[in-house]
Amino acid sequence: MKPAEIHDIAQALAEKAVTGADAAVILGSGLGDFADRLENRTDIPYAEINGMPEVTVTGHSGTLHYGTIGSKRIIAFGGRFHGYEGHGIDVSLCLVHIAHKLGIPRLIISNAAGGVSSRLHTGDLMLINDFMSPGYIYSKRGSTPSYTRFDNGNVRAKILQLAADENIPLQHGTYFYVKGPTYETKAEVRAYRTMGADVVGMSTAPEMLEATRLGIGCIGISLVTNMATGISHHKLDHSEVKETAESRKEDFARLVIRLIESDL
Ligand code: HPA
Repeated sequence: MKPAEIHDIAQALAEKAVTGADAAVILGSGLGDFADRLENRTDIPYAEINGMPEVTVTGHSGTLHYGTIGSKRIIAFGGRFHGYEGHGIDVSLCLVHIAHKLGIPRLIISNAAGGVSSRLHTGDLMLINDFMSPGYIYSKRGSTPSYTRFDNGNVRAKILQLAADENIPLQHGTYFYVKGPTYETKAEVRAYRTMGADVVGMSTAPEMLEATRLGIGCIGISLVTNMATGISHHKLDHSEVKETAESRKEDFARLVIRLIESDL
């Protein structure tokens, strides 16, 4: 979306008293319950925010939640805009651009993903250490190579330690981005695994790269809602994704709250 359109959305938010925050959270499929943990909360349906695109995926509420955790102001986006819904990269990145426009310094991005690595299991939470996306377009800016680099090496150990201290099992690994909307074939999953993927999913990587480019501190967390095609032998559908998210939403919310409280 054009800078002017992002400006208009920020304006519409300001009219609803949403002027900034200490951190923003993008909530993945089925992980919207985190919003219930915000204090002093206001819920604003995207449909009531002038200029905001429409959410079409089930499991995403399409609501912006504004509230606090302790002394910190938080925006939680319950619903994002995926490439597989037909959105261009500009629209897919609009939540990151809104966060940037509001001057938000930190972003926690979550998603539902398929487990590719045999060391992962359905229901695992995984810190995204790195990601890859062979063949897909991350950013609209393409006229010159961009030297944006994502590297969470400086906070990785702290995040893993914090999760361990809280007794929240947290794996870490590499996220493989695909545009979807079809789930992968067995052969694709085999290939991705050989390439070093631990999970595969249809969001987050473009957002993390853009947030990094814009200087926003960014943490990515995947919930393994299912094992990817061929790793598990039963047929996959979106209801399994939502069921697993339901069973792990407590730990996810607790982890995100602790990350925010600890300024990570
Ligand atoms: N593949 C891609 N995206 C996903 C999956 C998957 O298996 N599960 C949840 N999102």
